[in-house]
Amino acid sequence: MIETLERLREEVTGRLEGCASEQEIEQVRIDYLGRKSGKLTALLRGLRELPADERPRAGQELNRRRAELEGLLEARLKDLQESGKPRLDGAPGLDVTLPGNRVERGRVHPLTRVTDEIIDIFTGMGFEIARGPDVEDDYHNFEALNIPRDHPARDMQDTFFVSDDHVLRTHTSPVQIRVMEQRRPPLQIIAPGAVYRHDDDATHSPVFHQVEGFMVDHHITFGDLKGVLTHFLEQIFQNEVRVRFRPSFFPFTEPSAEVDIGCLLCRGAGDAGNCRVCRGSRWLEILGSGMIDPNVFRFVGYDAETFSGFAFGMGVERIAMLKYGMDDIRMFFQNDIRFLRQFPA
Ligand code: DAH
Repeated sequence: MIETLERLREEVTGRLEGCASEQEIEQVRIDYLGRKSGKLTALLRGLRELPADERPRAGQELNRRRAELEGLLEARLKDLQESGKPRLDGAPGLDVTLPGNRVERGRVHPLTRVTDEIIDIFTGMGFEIARGPDVEDDYHNFEALNIPRDHPARDMQDTFFVSDDHVLRTHTSPVQIRVMEQRRPPLQIIAPGAVYRHDDDATHSPVFHQVEGFMVDHHITFGDLKGVLTHFLEQIFQNEVRVRFRPSFFPFTEPSAEVDIGCLLCRGAGDAGNCRVCRGSRWLEILGSGMIDPNVFRFVGYDAETFSGFAFGMGVERIAMLKYGMDDIRMFFQNDIRFLRQFPA
C-alpha cells in the first residue's frame, strides 16, 4: 500500500505542474480526493476490508497522505493566484512601472477666463450681474438708447436683422434699458454677453463679447466713472497702466469718453513709431464710456434731475488679445487645441 500511495503522490505532483487554471487544479482534487471516485478516497473505503489489527496503522498512514495531497493542491492554487498579480521583479504579469494612458485635464477657454476676471473685479466693487436676450427688439437695441431710426449712429453698427423689428443685439447696452425699466436706483450692474455685427477680419468677428456696466444713483459724477474704470484697468492688466480719458461721442451718453491705456508693448517708448501693437500712437483704446444721457433716463421713466449715472462698454476679445499678445481674433473660435493648450489649466 505504501507503494501505491507513493505512486499517487507522484501522479498528483506531475499533474499539478501542468495545471494552468483553478478549474484544472479542481479536477485533480476530484480525481484523487473526490468523495465518489477519488483514488485516495477508494483506498480509505478499502480500510473496512482490512483485518482489525492492521486498520489503525493503515488509517493513520492514509490520513497523513490525504493531508499531504491537500497541501500540494493548496500550494499550487496559491501559486497560480499569485502569478496573476502585479510583480516588480520582471517576471510575467502586469508591470505597474509601465507609463499609463495620460488623462489630460481640460482648461477654461481664454474668453471665459477673461470674462470671469472682469466679473470678479466689478463684483469686488459691489456690481451685480444682469443678462438680456441675444435677439433684441429695435426699441431696446437702438430707440431707447437715443438712437432713432434715421440716426446716423445706426451706421456705426452693421446690424444682423432677424425681422423688421428684431435684431441680433449689436451691443450689450440694451441690458441697461431692460434693467432700468424693471428697477429703481441705486443700481450698480454689469452685463456680460455675446453681441453680433456683420464684420469679419483679423480684428473683427461676427460674434464677439462685451461687458456692459453702469451705475445710477443720486450724485454720481464723472469722477466716479474715472475712479471705477481706472481701478478696473489697473486690476485687469495687473500693472501700473497709464490711463487716458479722451472726449468722444455715443448717442446714449453725454459727455462721452473713450478710455485708452498706455501701450502694453512699447510702454510709450521713444521708438514707438515701430510698435507692432499701438502702431506708433503709444495708446490703446480699451473701452467706451460716459454719463448716461438724460434722454435715456426719459425712456425708462427716471427723473434726470434726481438721478445721474455713468455707463461703459468693453470688448472681451480685445482685452484678451492685448493681455495675451494675440493679433488674430479668429483664433478664439477655431478651437485649435494647440492654441487652447497654451493657456494655463
Ligand atoms: N455700446 C458701445 C459699443 O458697442 C460701447 C459703449 C460705449 C457702451 C459707451 C456704453 C457707453 O455703455 O457708455 O460700441
